[in-house]
Amino acid sequence: MNPADIASWISDAQKAFSAASDLDSLKAARLAHTGDKAPISLASRGLGSLSPEEKASAGKMIGDAKAEITKALAAATEKLEIARDAKVLLEEVVDITLPVQRTHRGGLHPISIIKNEISDFFIEQGYAVEEGPELESGWLNFDALNIPADHPARTMQDTFFIEPVDSGVVLRTHTSPVQIRTMLTQEPPIYVICPGRTFRADELDATHSPVFHQVEGLVVDKGITMAHLKGTLDNFARHMFGPDVTTRLRPSFFPFTEPSAEVDVFFNNRWIEWGGCGMVNPKVLATCGIDTDVYTGFAFGMGLERTLMVRHGITDMHEIVEGDLRFTRQFGVGL
Ligand code: PHE
Repeated sequence: MNPADIASWISDAQKAFSAASDLDSLKAARLAHTGDKAPISLASRGLGSLSPEEKASAGKMIGDAKAEITKALAAATEKLEIARDAKVLLEEVVDITLPVQRTHRGGLHPISIIKNEISDFFIEQGYAVEEGPELESGWLNFDALNIPADHPARTMQDTFFIEPVDSGVVLRTHTSPVQIRTMLTQEPPIYVICPGRTFRADELDATHSPVFHQVEGLVVDKGITMAHLKGTLDNFARHMFGPDVTTRLRPSFFPFTEPSAEVDVFFNNRWIEWGGCGMVNPKVLATCGIDTDVYTGFAFGMGLERTLMVRHGITDMHEIVEGDLRFTRQFGVGL
């Protein structure tokens, strides 16, 4: 073991490390120059057979040599790791400027969104959601609701009659026939809302549409009073229009409620007509076989288009009807 040998082991290792072109070849060079069979390792192991004085000086030389080799290895490792990282960054680059195929996700129409919102609000309070057919019998749409054929109220509703005219079938003019269907098939206590599509022979203009939507509310139970109706409408209005909103009832007339009222909401500093309501006319309860000595009820009905227009300041019904995505998208997808 002479200093010249040791110096050549160092320079061999340095050369091999700096010649390595990647981390794999560096690993091979490391094994060759620092592994068990490397000259420096063999020399290190041979130290045991030397005399104490020789061991001290040879041990120092070998120790220094090992430090040199380790330093060269660290430098080469660092250089190659930097090179590898740079290569990976280049090879694995994602071109975020590439054009993507844009397809529009489907979404719910704002009327469906508000219908779901109202349904969720009432379901949370224990109400059920009832639906009925859009083609309805005249008896359910009118007569059972205390609107007989010759009643002036019948002319309030510009009805689409289904041919032949004596079929007695109409496109329902309101969701109130669903009240009747519910009371005919269910025993009180009844807590339902009935959202759905309704039809009247109106021209489409800024505030009317021949096809529109209503939501009906019906409660029949023991001891139901107008106060329950008012409280329910206040809650409902606050949910739809904001926590500071109040409602007022104005006397009105519907054949199926007695007394009847128009419900207005105070929104954006003015009173706005929102819908109709009242205590279910005992005649209607009796028609449906409900004992009027035991039960009373209230009902209300409002237009979904109107609710949406008031809440969002929509001034033209066409926007709701036409289905232009630039309009509907402003309400979110609502899925
Ligand atoms: N059905 C009535 C309408 O279409 C609204 C209403 C419902 C009124 C329930 C009172 C009670 O105008």
